[in-house]
Parts: sequence; structure tokens; C-alpha cells
Amino acid sequence: MDSVNSMRIKTGILIFLSLFSGSLLKAQSKMTTPPSEIKVLVLFNTESGGTYKMAKEIAAGIEKLPGAKAVLKQVPRIKPLENEAKQAFANIPYATINELPEYDGIAFGSAVHFGNMSADMRYFLDQSVGLWTAHKLEGKPATVFMSAGSGAGREGAILSFWNTLAVHGMTIVSPGIMGTSEIDKSIPQGNTVFGASSLAGAPDGNRPSKGELHIASLQGYALAKAAKGYQLTKTEVNPSNTPLMPASPKTSRIEAKLKALNIVLPDAPAPVGNYKPFRISGKQIFINQIALKAGKVEHPGMVGTEVTEEQAKLATRQTLLNVLAVLKQAAGGDLDNVKQAVQLTGFFYTAAGYTKHAVLMNEASNLLVEILGESGMHTRATVGASSLPMNSSVEIQAIFELE
Ligand SMILES: Cc1cc2nc3c(=O)[nH]c(=O)nc-3n(C[C@H](O)[C@H](O)[C@H](O)COP(=O)(O)O)c2cc1C
Repeated sequence: MDSVNSMRIKTGILIFLSLFSGSLLKAQSKMTTPPSEIKVLVLFNTESGGTYKMAKEIAAGIEKLPGAKAVLKQVPRIKPLENEAKQAFANIPYATINELPEYDGIAFGSAVHFGNMSADMRYFLDQSVGLWTAHKLEGKPATVFMSAGSGAGREGAILSFWNTLAVHGMTIVSPGIMGTSEIDKSIPQGNTVFGASSLAGAPDGNRPSKGELHIASLQGYALAKAAKGYQLTKTEVNPSNTPLMPASPKTSRIEAKLKALNIVLPDAPAPVGNYKPFRISGKQIFINQIALKAGKVEHPGMVGTEVTEEQAKLATRQTLLNVLAVLKQAAGGDLDNVKQAVQLTGFFYTAAGYTKHAVLMNEASNLLVEILGESGMHTRATVGASSLPMNSSVEIQAIFELE
């Protein structure tokens, strides 16, 4: 063996050892993560920022419990908010409905709109049918806080918000009268026994008041304590050990396939306009996606000039994964409920005269068949476009059929 080859082998062994020890360290650090760490979502919708101020205080209250981490997120908007980029809450990310089960507790915050939650919050929660039928939020602690104008109907608004949480089987946390003896009663205060609220329309103009923030903080802390209890018990089995129904050993076939292929579906992208991510008509599901990845378009631009064909293939793969993420949502959280793919139409941002659309689209077709097997086979069309939304190099329209 010459010295160059022996050098190569030594270098290979060193790289292997460093990779191996790196993953060992990672595995060890995972094992030593204290189990008491809890993650609580503070999910809000605001237009003028009142609910955001309350949300921050709820989050601060959550983090007063050692080991509790609050994650602030907004509900996606049905209609974009003018000047959102200039608002204090502009950098707070939008949540997706499928991430709700990841948390140990959820604080929901909304403006009071005619004695109710806001339309954005309602629209978001209406997308939770898949989570509901899959029992994903059962037992999880939840609480509600609000920002009102005059305060008209605010108690009714919180109570009607509770209906949705109760139907999900969530455990509702309310502040009751905690902290009320400590706040300034010489000014009107928005607190209610059901949840903190702020009177943004109060004439003093300095809202949320200290007292309103104080109740919000206590409410956040109470939620964190409930979330901790939930975390400790959520994996416990039925104590009677006598299930009424024989346990079904069903594990999702498609999930197993995805795992074997090392594919993790992305979060389904939220709509960026006045439309739904999917529509079910009869047994058919209609979906359209572009190459969004974590809020940004993957490899944007015209194929052949700004984007190579290899990059366009990666964008096509991402687009198909987005389609599947939405499909999973539409199918109640389980891709096994999909009977078959019906039709894919691929649009590619190309120059006039471009002819290799089929090569790009094969990336999507092959991946779909790899994941769904025979039922992933579909009819197909490919089209060249002179531009696509958000400068995406690809858009896919997909039709599937439910079982
Ligand atoms: C459509 C609409 C309906 C409203 N209805 C009520 C109401 O019933 N009671 C109330 O006190 N305030 C009401 N308001 C006022 C908002 O609740 C108040 O401005 C709140 O602070 C807005 O929250 P935000 O700052 O988080 O957007 C309403 C506002 C809008 C736009």
C-alpha cells in the first residue's frame, strides 16, 4: 500500500471517529435533558397590538415556572394586515394547526369581536378537525385571554371560546379571583374570573394597565403549572387496565413508509390570501402548492436562466412535499385515509421554447409513487408559465381521492 493510500485510510478513520463521537455526544445530551422541561404555546391574533401586549405578559408568567418555556406565535390571517411589517408583532411567526399537539399547554389570545373571538382565530381553529378526530389535544391544558375595547361582552367572549376547547377535550385553566386583591380598584380593570382581558378603550389610554398585566402573568403561571402536571401524566396508561375496546395495533402504513425513506413532511404552508389550503368535494381533495419552505420560496426564478434544472427538481420535490403535508391535514392527519392520487399538473416558470417540463415533473411523480405505491399513480399535465406566484420556479395542482 503506498503512503498516499494509507494516509487516505487514516483520514477516513479519523472522520468516522469524530462523526461517531459527535452523534454519541448528541445522544448523551438528549438522555440528560431534564424531563421537567415544558413547552407552552402562546397563540394570539391581534390587529392593533393589544392582545400581543397581553400575550407577552402571559408568556412572562409561564416562564416564571422553572423549566417552562413559552413560545409566542400568531394565528395566520385570512386577509393580510396593512402595515404589518411596521407593527411590534411583525416578527412573531405564524403557527400551523398541526403543531398544536407538540406543546404541553396552550394559551389562546384574541381581540373581542362582537362578544366573540376574532374571525382569524375562528378560521384557524376550524382547521383543527383532523386533530380533534385524532384526539390530539385531549387533556392538554388551555387558557384564554383577550383584549377588548370597552369590555362589552368580554366574559361571554371567553366563555364561548371555551366551547371549542371543551369539544377538543382540553383542560381549561381559569384565573378565578387570583391576584384581584393586589390590583388598583380605583380604575376600571379588564380582568375576569374566566381569563385576563384588557380594556383598550378605557379613557386613561394606558392599556393594558398594570393590574391587567398582573392577572395575565398569574394566568400564564397557572397554565404552566397545569402543563407541568399534564406532561407528567400524559403517557400514563388507563389505570383500570381494562380497556372497553380491544386495542387496535394499527400503525399508519404511509407514515412507516415515510420513515423508511427518511422523509419528514414539512408543516403545511398557511394560505397567503383569501383561500383554503385544500377543498374536499365529494371524496376528492383539491390542493395547489408552490415551492415554499419555512416561509421562503426554494430556488426561485426562471428555469434555465436563474435556476438550474437540478435546482428546479429540488423545488419540485419541495412542492410535492407541501402538497402531501396539506393532503395529510385534509385526510384527518393520516395519509392512510387517501385512496389514490388522481391527477398532477405541474407549472414551470420557463422561457418560451423550453421543452423539458416532463423531466422536472418526474421528480414529483416518482416521489409520489415511491411514497403511496400503486395508489400514487396519476394522470399528469405539465405546462410552461411566463411567471409564477412569489417567483416560484414551480407550482403543482393536485387532485386525490379519499377512502
Ligand atoms: C369587528 C370588531 C368588533 C369588536 N367588538 C367588540 C366588542 O364586542 N366588545 C369590545 O369591548 N370591543 C370590541 N371591539 C374592540 C376590540 O376588541 C379592541 O379594539 C381590541 O383591543 C382589539 O385588540 P387588538 O389590539 O389585539 O387588535 C371590536 C373591534 C372590532 C374590529
